[in-house]
Amino acid sequence: MDPNYVRIFDTTLRDGEQSPGATMTSAEKLEVARAIARLGVDVIETGFPAASPDDWRAVNQIAQLVGAEAVAGRPQAEPPIICGLARATKTDIERAWTAVEPAAHPRIHTFIATSPIHREHKLRMDKDQVLARIREMVGLARSLCPDVEFSCEDACRTELDFLAIAVQAAIEAGATTLNIPDTVGYTTPDEMASRIAYLKQHVPGIDGVILSVHCHNDLGLATANSLAGILAGARQAEVTINGIGERAGNTALEEVVMALSVRGPLFGLQTGIDRSQLARASKLVSTITGMTVQANKAIVGANAFAHESGIHQDGMLKHHETYEIMRPETVGATQTTLVLGKHSGRAAFSARLAELGHALEQDELDRTFQSFKVLADKKKTLTDADIEALVASEISQPEPFYRLQGLQVACGSMGLPTATVELIGPDGAREVRAEVGTGPVDAAYKAIDGIVKAECRLLEYLVQGVTAGIDAIGEVSVRIRGEGAGGDERHTAQGAAQPRVFHGHGADTDIIVASAKAYLVALNRLLHAQKRARPEPTARVQA
Ligand code: KIV
Ligand code: ZN
Repeated sequence: MDPNYVRIFDTTLRDGEQSPGATMTSAEKLEVARAIARLGVDVIETGFPAASPDDWRAVNQIAQLVGAEAVAGRPQAEPPIICGLARATKTDIERAWTAVEPAAHPRIHTFIATSPIHREHKLRMDKDQVLARIREMVGLARSLCPDVEFSCEDACRTELDFLAIAVQAAIEAGATTLNIPDTVGYTTPDEMASRIAYLKQHVPGIDGVILSVHCHNDLGLATANSLAGILAGARQAEVTINGIGERAGNTALEEVVMALSVRGPLFGLQTGIDRSQLARASKLVSTITGMTVQANKAIVGANAFAHESGIHQDGMLKHHETYEIMRPETVGATQTTLVLGKHSGRAAFSARLAELGHALEQDELDRTFQSFKVLADKKKTLTDADIEALVASEISQPEPFYRLQGLQVACGSMGLPTATVELIGPDGAREVRAEVGTGPVDAAYKAIDGIVKAECRLLEYLVQGVTAGIDAIGEVSVRIRGEGAGGDERHTAQGAAQPRVFHGHGADTDIIVASAKAYLVALNRLLHAQKRARPEPTARVQA
């Protein structure tokens, strides 16, 4: 209980995953959880187990694997707390508990809204009913798990005196961490600071629990509000990598961690985060979720350490501190060149993967090694970033309905851009289709649409080079919206149906091939969601 230690609670896999289209497969969640554990976070909120059987399984798998892996070979290290979210209901809490129970340090995080708007319009409960629910459900959670977090949803629009009563009720019922979320990103730094200070002053027993802040970024104030809450006495910050999350997102982990570190003398506080892992974790999350990071994003954006103007460059040459408040290597924003080439064997390759913290299944390793060999034939030097891009492409997706077998394009300034696509369909049948389009990607996507016949709209298409150089791998991210029947049936923690947005990622030295791969990943996700949404024929007969 060091009073100057700020716990970092990462909710990339729960609030972050609630961003439209950021849904991850279990294998992807496990990779992200490993990256988050490598960062040294104190708590990983791994999901919302009651949302679906898939969500429960993903949380449970992380609870079984990640804690132990995080401390393997480091006997002094503590495994992270593995947390599952639950609404304040008996079923949600019991589901969350069975999912996190295998972890070395499990936590149940339960919540109910306390603000007048939510009480009246969403919950249709009065203050007394909300308080009774808090007492009953926090008590139930505590009877199952020694570590219980309680959140007053929409705390920053809750009457201060009622917020204090709700927090007190949760403490009396056994909560060990009390979270004050700015659910709708409405508050300001001064307000957040005085809210935390008020609770510290007026709630009996508050000094025996950890106060936490959880801010959304609707007004672009999430990091400022979190830091204000910390200055006022909160000792846990709930954050996501790259700030992904509902609507405008959550507080960015890298921003809070680096603000506390760069302005160390001002705050006088520490975190347990390994800052050199920040850039890597950011890249992995953006690749896997398809939520690309804007170039001017603090700490992890492509331009965060770029100096363009002559005056700045001149200053940097004379002394880097003229225009740089932190070094890129501090956050791991520098490239490591891999000393592997086309003659390297599987053992050297998998050893490097292990050093980078990836523990792939055998079939994933086989596929990644094959892609590595193909790439090493085309590129002389491979960077860790290239390897990360390959891994992100090969991490298991659910069994795909359609696979890319071949692609041929003709394009340029003469004639019509044409693409011929060969896919292997769900029944193993080969289908070929040729189309013309406004460009080679358009032609390839039309040809794929002609075979797959899923009703969808392309919302976003983005191509980026992983590394510099003409032989760089091109990474493509797409986002599509399913327009037809069915879709993602999951519900967010707040109960809203998920929009039917799906992302896909593809990497290849040929950007048209990368584009086709990315589109197929997104289409396969859509087809899986539609399949899940269709009622089982036998269930209908029984009903
Ligand atoms: O923003 C919010 O209020 C939440 C709670 C579930 C903690 O995410
Ligand atoms: Zn939230």
